[in-house]
Amino acid sequence: MGQKIRAAVFPVAGRGTRFLPATKASPKEMLPIVDKPLIQYAVEEAIDAGATKLVFVTGSSKRAIEDHFDTDPELEAALTESGKDQLLQSIRGIVPDGVTCIYIRQGEPLGLGHAVLCARPAVGDEPFYVHLADDLIASKTPCLTQMADEYSRHGGSVIAVEAVPHEETSSYGIVAVDGDDSNRVTEIVEKPSPDVAPSNMAVVGRYLLAPAIFDKLETTGRGAGGEIQLTDAIADLLAESPVYAYSFSGDRYDCGNKLGYLKATVAYGLDHPETGAAFREHLYEVLGQ
Ligand code: UTP
Repeated sequence: MGQKIRAAVFPVAGRGTRFLPATKASPKEMLPIVDKPLIQYAVEEAIDAGATKLVFVTGSSKRAIEDHFDTDPELEAALTESGKDQLLQSIRGIVPDGVTCIYIRQGEPLGLGHAVLCARPAVGDEPFYVHLADDLIASKTPCLTQMADEYSRHGGSVIAVEAVPHEETSSYGIVAVDGDDSNRVTEIVEKPSPDVAPSNMAVVGRYLLAPAIFDKLETTGRGAGGEIQLTDAIADLLAESPVYAYSFSGDRYDCGNKLGYLKATVAYGLDHPETGAAFREHLYEVLGQ
């Protein structure tokens, strides 16, 4: 039923203040989990879900992201010369043939909604993914692919949600759904306090959005924190175009905060073929078990 999704938008223009001083001169999306930066996990997930146009909305101090997805002939030559084939492959195949990277500058950090609107000229009049790289999701089927499957069942827009403790609703966009109609969203509110939150179902960093969202973003004023909020534009969209909440399967790590980042490092470190066994032993030692 749904159209094929070709574009994925990566808003990477935030300042990452929760991770200062690490994020003073380099983007939080370049923080590595074992041996790959967060943004590479994001790009791999989007490509798995069929994206061929990768749109990065960047801000100050984000040059490292462009460099990461560019070719590096000098490094490639050095690795070839020293016979380090495996490492060579690991840097060569990051962006496969047929996939294009587009970089758009968000002049001022006016919020996630504004960042998504900046991507409009590159996305055009098509449904598209939005992927927040600091929400890392480990799952057998990548989260965006799960959402694309869901979208193929009913079209519209699909947003990933997860139950959070009630006292944490003020950190998320929170949805209410019509349980009788395939989890169609009836209400969405940005960062409500627990006493007014319509549920404890929180929006996480994966969206599959109808292009109609762009018109909504044009007219959405500044909301919570004085920023143009994607959540507010989605609220405006609800009346005219269906939005579905999708409870993905997988483990989410909020790598925008220190504890979430450390948890992700442990999970991915234990799972990594090179480090897993020795890291597990080390953790047993450290924890005295
Ligand atoms: P966050 O709320 O995590 O903000 O943004 P942040 O600035 O990245 O981090 P903190 O809170 O200061 O630590 C959610 C997503 O929206 C992007 C961020 O890069 C992140 O992926 N964003 C946010 C933009 O691209 N532009 C903005 O103006 C704001």
